[in-house]
Amino acid sequence: MSLTVEEAGRTLADPDAYADEDRLHAAMALLRRERPVSWVEAPGYNPFWAITKHADVMEIERNHEVFLNAPRPLLTTAEWDEINRTRAEQGIALRTLVHMDDPDHRVVRAIGADWFRPKAMRGLEPRIKELARRYVDRMAILGDSCDFVRQVAVHYPLYVILSLLGLPESDFDRMLKLTQELFGGTDTDMRRGETAEETLEVLTDFFAYFQELTKARRARPTDDLASAIANAKVDGEPLNDYDTTSYYVIIATAGHDTTSSTISGGLRALIDNPDQLRRLRDEPELMPLAVDEMIRWVSPVKEFMRTATRDYELRDVKIRAGESVLLSYPSANRDEEVFDDPFRFDVGRDPNRHLAFGFGVHYCLGAALARIETRAFFEELLPRLESIELDGTPESTATTFVSGLKRLPIRYSLR
Ligand code: HEM
Repeated sequence: MSLTVEEAGRTLADPDAYADEDRLHAAMALLRRERPVSWVEAPGYNPFWAITKHADVMEIERNHEVFLNAPRPLLTTAEWDEINRTRAEQGIALRTLVHMDDPDHRVVRAIGADWFRPKAMRGLEPRIKELARRYVDRMAILGDSCDFVRQVAVHYPLYVILSLLGLPESDFDRMLKLTQELFGGTDTDMRRGETAEETLEVLTDFFAYFQELTKARRARPTDDLASAIANAKVDGEPLNDYDTTSYYVIIATAGHDTTSSTISGGLRALIDNPDQLRRLRDEPELMPLAVDEMIRWVSPVKEFMRTATRDYELRDVKIRAGESVLLSYPSANRDEEVFDDPFRFDVGRDPNRHLAFGFGVHYCLGAALARIETRAFFEELLPRLESIELDGTPESTATTFVSGLKRLPIRYSLR
C-alpha cells in the first residue's frame, strides 16, 4: 500500500524511521515531490511544518530574524516541550547556542568561535593525525574483526573534543555514556530509564560535572577551551552557571556523536560501494571531496527547528506566527533539484552544496574540526586496508535528532 502525504509527514517524527533508511527516504522523497512544506500532526508531538527542500531550508535559516530557534529548537515530544518550557521559565533549562537567538547568540557564539576557526583547527592537525593513527592501530590490535562503531568510531572524536576542552582522560568513558543517554533518548538500547524524569537525571549529571569544572578553571585557568568558557565575560560579567554548563554540554555532545556517525556511515558507504573505495584509494587527492560526500550521505543531524515570529509565505503556504518548522537536513541533502543522482554515493562529488552543517548564523561551529577528523581517519586507514567487508547486519539508532549507526560489524585485513 502506498504512503499518503500525511503518513510521510508523521514518519519524520517517528524515531524508529531513522533506524530504517529506506523507509525514511521514501517518506522524504514523497514529501519533496508532493508537499515540500507539509503540516504534520503526529501523536505525542505538538504540530509542525516539515520543510524538506534544500532551497526552503536555506530560506528559513537565512531569515533568522523571522524564524527563531527559541522556544523550540528541536523536535521533542509535547511532554518534553512542556518540561523544557517550565524549566526555561524557572531559569534551569539547558540553554546552549542552539537555544539562543540574537543578540545573546552572537555574543555567546563569539566566545568559542576563535577556537574553532579553520586556521586554529589546522594547528591541531598533527595531534589529530596522531590520534587517528592510534585508532587505526587499535583496529589492528583487535585482529581481523570488530564492531567498528563501539570499538573504534565512538572513541576517536570523543577523545579529540574532550582533549580540546581539557578534560582528563579518566573521565572520557563517563562523558561518552552521558552523551549517548542524552542523544539516544528514544532508543531503547541507549536511553536511561523509562520516564522523562529519569532522562532529566542525565542533564543533572552533566550540570554537576561541568559546574565542578567551571569552579576549577576559574580558580586556576589553563589554556584549554574549558578555561576560555569558564572565564569568558559578557558585558563585564561571567556567564552564569547554566550558560557556562550549556556551552560545555553543546561542545562535548555536538562534538563527537556527529563525527563518529559520519566516520561509521562513511566507512559503510565505502564497503557498500567497492568501486568508490577503489577510486578513493587510487586517487587520494579526492579525500576532501569524499569527506563532504560522507557528511552529506550520513547527514547525522536529522533536524533542527525554528518558530515563526510573524506570518510568512513559503511556496504558497502560509506559516503563521507562533508555528514551528522542522528543517529536515537529510531530505535537503537528497534533493533531486540540487544534487545530481542524489542517492549515488560519489567520492568525487563536486559541487556538493550539502546542508548537513546547517546554514547561516547557526552554521555548525565545529565544521572545520569535523572535516579534519574525518579526513585524518580515512587518510590513515585506507593505505593500510587490504580488504574489508560486513560481518553481520549494521544497526542504526532510533532517534529523530542525531543518529547514525550504533553497530557496524566488519571483517578486515590491515597492513
Ligand atoms: C551546530 C551539524 C560536528 C559543534 C550544528 C548544526 C548542525 C550541525 C546541522 C545546526 C546548524 C544550524 O542551525 O544551521 C554537525 C555535523 C557534524 C558536526 C553534521 C559532523 C559531521 C560538530 C563538531 C563540533 C560541533 C565536531 C565541535 C564542537 C556545534 C555547535 C553548534 C553546532 C557548537 C551550535 C552553533 C550555533 O548554534 O551557533 N552542527 N556538527 N559540531 N555544532 Fe555541529
